[in-house]
Amino acid sequence: MTKHRLGAAGRALALYLVFILAAVPAYAADAPRQEPVSTQTQEAAQETAQIQDPGALDVLVNKRNQLPKNFVPKLKALPSAYGGLSMTPEAGSAFVEMAKAAAKEGFSLRVVSGYRSYSKQTTLYQSYKRQYGEATADTFSARPGFSEHQTGLAADINTASLRAHFERTDTYRWLVEHCWDYGFILRYPEGKEEVTGYCFEPWHYRYVGVETALAVKESGLTFDEYMEQTSSQPITRAQLADQLYQLTGGNARSPLPDSYKDLQQGADYLPGVAWALEQKLMAGVGTGKFDPEGAVSQSYLAVVLYRLAEPEGESPRTALSWAVEAELMGLPEDEEAPVTQRELARTLARLEQALNPEEEVPPEEGQNGQESTDQLPQEGSKTEQAAQKV
Ligand code: DAL
Ligand code: ZN
Repeated sequence: MTKHRLGAAGRALALYLVFILAAVPAYAADAPRQEPVSTQTQEAAQETAQIQDPGALDVLVNKRNQLPKNFVPKLKALPSAYGGLSMTPEAGSAFVEMAKAAAKEGFSLRVVSGYRSYSKQTTLYQSYKRQYGEATADTFSARPGFSEHQTGLAADINTASLRAHFERTDTYRWLVEHCWDYGFILRYPEGKEEVTGYCFEPWHYRYVGVETALAVKESGLTFDEYMEQTSSQPITRAQLADQLYQLTGGNARSPLPDSYKDLQQGADYLPGVAWALEQKLMAGVGTGKFDPEGAVSQSYLAVVLYRLAEPEGESPRTALSWAVEAELMGLPEDEEAPVTQRELARTLARLEQALNPEEEVPPEEGQNGQESTDQLPQEGSKTEQAAQKV
């Protein structure tokens, strides 16, 4: 049997998948299918879904998508000149780069609230709820598990108070014009309260990476709408190859075989596609000629996953039963239905979790920084009074 040449992570993945193979008794075409979960559970899950990939750069956290209670991202304290609080290393670097650019034009940026742990959000939300009542608190403060601040990707910049009217400042005008170029988005825009579930927060920015930030800007949508739209779109074969390649450590050694020279030169997905073809994960599935824009059906994905572990895997139907039994994929109603971005993200999160079952837990907060403290409410609406630090 020919073994795939995978990187260290890929080998671990293969070992895990081989283990699953050994643990699952039947892969026959007529293997019994799992019973669907009860309607009640499905309805509850639709109301507030558990986020499967909390560490993803484009993770959508809102009132319907909940972070795991124990999720703590990798964190790094910002230099004290920028507030000293913690964010993920990537988000923090992007913030510093943005702050330096702002400084050149005379604007000073500082993070007054970055990463907030689940327990910190609990204390904060409870305190607002006691002070202003649940309905008002819910318009400006996320419940524990529902705050982007727990991802380490959100930053409250310069203020977190409606009373400060940050939106009337030149600093704000600079930020809303330039934040996208540094990978940040204005997360709770004015006039979108019904969509985001929160009042306008001119200070709250979310790091999503430059590519996504520019795409969100271009779309004119809120991040909630953009992600809902994106994640229900079908994935392409090139995207599948690329994402599996990233997951397994991205270590392609060979160029694309000659027979695939018609693929778009220089495309981002090429290393992943070359790897997937080299590993024989995708070649031979379907027509045998690689189409980067080709559809990925449920059974196609199962075959690809199966081939990662077992090069001799033959039948898509068999592979699908295997992938469902192994809980890598949900049971599809139609095995030819296209795999959506959301479904692939869930599958990859399950794989990743199997590869890294015990992630090291970093410290909760930055060492140097002081978070902005609550200010006493003054005049204005109840919400305005309430939203001193959100
Ligand atoms: N103020 C935002 C919604 C939060 O609490 O995360
Ligand atoms: Zn915030």
